[in-house]
Amino acid sequence: MHKMKPARTTASVPTESEVAARVEALLARMSLAEKIGQLNQAGGADFAPGPRAEDQIRTGGAGSVLWVNDTRRFNELQKIAIAESPSGIPLLFALDVIHGYRTIFPVPLAMAASWDPAVPEQSQAVAARESRAAGIHWTFAPMIDIARDARWGRIVEGAGEDPYLGAVMAAAQVRGFQGDDHADPERVLACAKHFAGYGASDGGRDYDPVYLSESQLRNTYLPPFAAAVKAGAATFMSAYMDLNDVPASGNRFLLRQVLREEWGFEGFVVSDAFAVGNMIIQGHARDGRDAALRGLKAGLNMDMSSYTYTNHAAELVAEGALTVAEIEELVRPVLALKVKMGLFERPYVDEALLTEVVARPDHRATARWAAQRSMVLLKNEGGLLPLSQELKKVAVIGPVADSMSATEGSWMVFGHQPAAVTVLAGIRARLPHATVTYAPGPEIRRDIPSWFESMMAGETRKAAQTPEEAEAAFQLAVETARAADQIVMVLGETDLMAGEAASRASLDLPGRQEELLKAVAALGKPVVLVLLNGRPLSINWAAEHIPAILEAWEPGTEGGHAVADILFGDVNPGGKLPVSFPRKGSHAPLYYARNLTHSPEGSRMYNPRYWDGLPTPLYPFGYGLSYTTFAFTNLRLSAAQVKVGDTLNVSVDVTNTGAVAGDEVAQLYIHQRWGSDSRPMRELKGFARVTLQPGETKPVTFTLGPDELRYWSTNAGGWLQEAAVFDLWVGSDSLATLHGEFEVVA
Ligand code: BGC
Repeated sequence: MHKMKPARTTASVPTESEVAARVEALLARMSLAEKIGQLNQAGGADFAPGPRAEDQIRTGGAGSVLWVNDTRRFNELQKIAIAESPSGIPLLFALDVIHGYRTIFPVPLAMAASWDPAVPEQSQAVAARESRAAGIHWTFAPMIDIARDARWGRIVEGAGEDPYLGAVMAAAQVRGFQGDDHADPERVLACAKHFAGYGASDGGRDYDPVYLSESQLRNTYLPPFAAAVKAGAATFMSAYMDLNDVPASGNRFLLRQVLREEWGFEGFVVSDAFAVGNMIIQGHARDGRDAALRGLKAGLNMDMSSYTYTNHAAELVAEGALTVAEIEELVRPVLALKVKMGLFERPYVDEALLTEVVARPDHRATARWAAQRSMVLLKNEGGLLPLSQELKKVAVIGPVADSMSATEGSWMVFGHQPAAVTVLAGIRARLPHATVTYAPGPEIRRDIPSWFESMMAGETRKAAQTPEEAEAAFQLAVETARAADQIVMVLGETDLMAGEAASRASLDLPGRQEELLKAVAALGKPVVLVLLNGRPLSINWAAEHIPAILEAWEPGTEGGHAVADILFGDVNPGGKLPVSFPRKGSHAPLYYARNLTHSPEGSRMYNPRYWDGLPTPLYPFGYGLSYTTFAFTNLRLSAAQVKVGDTLNVSVDVTNTGAVAGDEVAQLYIHQRWGSDSRPMRELKGFARVTLQPGETKPVTFTLGPDELRYWSTNAGGWLQEAAVFDLWVGSDSLATLHGEFEVVA
């Protein structure tokens, strides 16, 4: 029994017109400075520039506060806003709660690998309940940037390379955070970020400029954002970088035309940190006054801590460069959300709530379930997995095998102390009667440290190992492995090797990990490789020589238990890659939905693209194995021909042809053979994760309608659905071979 759920005051949920009336009444009594204050987000942490948050709040100069994670301080700051500021408008407290608050879930890239929207939806619902109990109203998530370049560190925060999968995962996260009622005391406001195109930075270098054609933008990078609006996302965050030479935070095309005019978004947009002021550094705005004008005119509602609005907006109004009405237009959605959340009635948080909420056993159970469903079996030669539960001597080897921060992964909540079940702990718990030895091997660390190290809590970041210490650790790891009957290597990346400001030029296993893997494999004992990482890695040697590989990502609080559940066969893995695994970092960007060329594989003119190695992914998009096998048969289409605007059903039977129950993800890909523009050789347009008992068959039906068949055409300068022949494939990954075709006629 959980007695903490505060009574939902349904009676107080106001109608849209009541909200509007209250907002107008507030505006009528607010000074211009207070209105501008609502557009300012004050930084509450020591590293944040600007005046003390308390002082800004007292004068009505802040509508929101970020970078505070302290329940008591939330109430103290709120009290200043309510009791001391001129109009007593409550603050919105915001924080990055990306994949869990206290109970940490798999990183978003991993959740996408579940190909099950229930995973992000239920995980983010728990994240919402815990963070709201701490006093947080608004999370800067979901991050829904499409990422096709695995070098880009922030690939870990999103759903990978595909717009269709990305849109499904974006909507699921919005629903999870927000529920269906902003007044729900167990939910938080979501923030779809980073609008837009951030994942396509040149060379995968974080913050570098982005150049995307309108067709790339609309067909690939915007669909998750459109889905977030449809799912009711309350807020958006503008990206840092220049999009086609215009900073996203001053980008009228994005913020006005696309977001408001085309999609009808009614919430508000916050800039990324300092991004309004950064328009000066980026060589776009002349000075603070100019930056404020550009942001405000573009429809960027809230300035995250650059104080450009509070410093310059009043002067802009006084000069006549901006009207009060323009300011009010930007303030309205901020006030409206505060009204809808019931913050005027319930501004404070019960300081006793958090301890109870984070102790809920169902939160941990959800985290374990989410981690299990996110893991992807990459290889299982000779059925090495699952391992016997009778093993007597197991060695767990590798620098991330017992690292709580690597297990919880990138984007730790401010002030959070990692407390995960590591892979070592998970295996020990699963094999209480076996001897489970452990050696980390040489440490791994970034060549250039992350500036997040000083901001985030986490495991103590020790002084670097000397080469001698590293060598001793290497030898100890080999000796530890030698004494065991079964070796589990746990390799990958630490938490700050992926994420913001964590791009890499290479996708190799960092440090001496591959060398250690080779030395351990040379012992001739059975080796299983478990990967903990926040991005695709080029594991070519392992893929060739290690019999079993499990991609566990950064699996969160219950990660070690979930790994053990899979290694010992309590759970059959069913995740699929949400992103292609390149053979080399220099192959990025690499994605399956490429256009055809004049020299396709198998043709007389075939050019292998690079003469120094295969250009194909090591593991393709959508790929993942199981402890059982599946067959796809009996592909049927409801019609061979449909009219433009009509809908077609595609069905297939999926059979579990193996000996144990398992999950398969049926995936539907299409290709439009000709048209106004060239179309990708394959595009995902449907998927379903199904559970099948041995021998069981289930039909899966997909729908292809105008939404799936249209695209944004360069030649037409707009959205098109065309008459053409389409190929389709259904199967277990993006190389599916079961083929059909249909025609769309005018
Ligand atoms: C990141 C955002 C984040 C913000 C606030 C920025 O550096 O790009 O994703 O929400 O900081 O912490």
